[in-house]
Amino acid sequence: MSFPKGFLIGASTAAHQVEGNNVHSDYWAQEHLPHSSFTEPSGIACDHYSRFEEDIGLMAKAGLNAYRFSIEWARIEPEDGKFDENEIEHYRQVIRCCRENGVEPLVTLMHFTSPVWLIRQGGWEAESTVARFRRYAAYVTEKLGDEIRWICTINEANMGLQLAAISRRFQLMAQQAQKNAQQAEGTVQVGMNFRKMMENMKFAAQENAQVFGVPNPQIFVSSRTPEGDALVFRAHQAARDAIKAIRPEIRVGITLSLHDLQALPGGEAFAENAWEEEFLHYLPYIQEDDFLGVQNYTRTQYGPAGQLPCPEGAELTQMDYEFYPEALEHVIRKVRKDFKGDLIVTENGVATSDDTRRVEFIRRAMAGVESCLKDGIPVKGYCHWSLMDNFEWQKGYAMTFGLIAVDRATLLRTPKESLRFLGAYAKSSAAGSAL
Ligand code: BGC
Repeated sequence: MSFPKGFLIGASTAAHQVEGNNVHSDYWAQEHLPHSSFTEPSGIACDHYSRFEEDIGLMAKAGLNAYRFSIEWARIEPEDGKFDENEIEHYRQVIRCCRENGVEPLVTLMHFTSPVWLIRQGGWEAESTVARFRRYAAYVTEKLGDEIRWICTINEANMGLQLAAISRRFQLMAQQAQKNAQQAEGTVQVGMNFRKMMENMKFAAQENAQVFGVPNPQIFVSSRTPEGDALVFRAHQAARDAIKAIRPEIRVGITLSLHDLQALPGGEAFAENAWEEEFLHYLPYIQEDDFLGVQNYTRTQYGPAGQLPCPEGAELTQMDYEFYPEALEHVIRKVRKDFKGDLIVTENGVATSDDTRRVEFIRRAMAGVESCLKDGIPVKGYCHWSLMDNFEWQKGYAMTFGLIAVDRATLLRTPKESLRFLGAYAKSSAAGSAL
């Protein structure tokens, strides 16, 4: 294995999934609805909010040199226009802790969760959200910009359209058979309980109206309209321009959820259309970015009748995705054809209770990254999802993606072999040649 010196090798988390007590956020509100679609509420999560020093320390000890985490908008701006300096100070401590440990911080500004007030104002379908997000991004940059080199504005900005598609497919499949419905859940790269959502629909409208003022709140991962889809990317552009105006030296990008879309004979047109929807139509919004965050977990195959289920006998992860680490290399190569900036793998990982499978996943995924580097593709880093077992959104704590195990009763951290294994790549790259 040979990664160039300066190559970022680290792990990712998101505020809501690890910090705990994110009480001003839309997710917290939805988790506590009487007929919530969440398996369980996030609660204290991993208490990373108070234990970040221990977590960053474990990461650094294993050799990792990068940490991608998110700043929580609902903490920074719990009320419209009211910013909390104490929370800025909290994240300043997190960033400084990274630097003291020789770990480069990669900061995400919005990782799915929004303040409740934003959703009450129309959320991710409301034009005003563009200016609101710009204002938040500018505030964070004013306060913390001198300490940050990399910012991801929005995590998986293309998620809304993917969810709209899967929700259409789910409704269709659910009508056909319960068994098929389970398969539909396994085709989106994030933890969603579609079946539970459908069952709860009759109660959800009224309960949502009480909390958000509307029966159908437009949270970030709601099914997006084409207008909402464009709005998310305009919010990204507005934030990017605001950050650059204050700190031109910060490298700014967005992250996208990208599947390795493979066509079997007769499935070419389906795969091409899906790639257009998942990636190509966003190019006009991101070509000016410094980098693109590539997030990949699996592949999707298409045949003459459209999307196919996982191949017979395929190894499935806890999320019901196919275990297929080669997908990462395929996606990087495909993205590179049309996106000319730098690439960073900002998420890639596997939900499994068998850590030997995670080690194998990392080994094969990293071989793919290495091969891309050999061909001169400007990949600048790899951040594994996730640093620790955490709150997998609607699916709760049963999905274990972590390099570090977290005991749910005691919150005790236990590094897994996979953490050591990933760290070894970073240690060897530290001795390599300059990028
Ligand atoms: C998201 C993470 C999530 C992971 C695993 C990505 O879609 O960014 O928040 O936990 O996938 O499902």
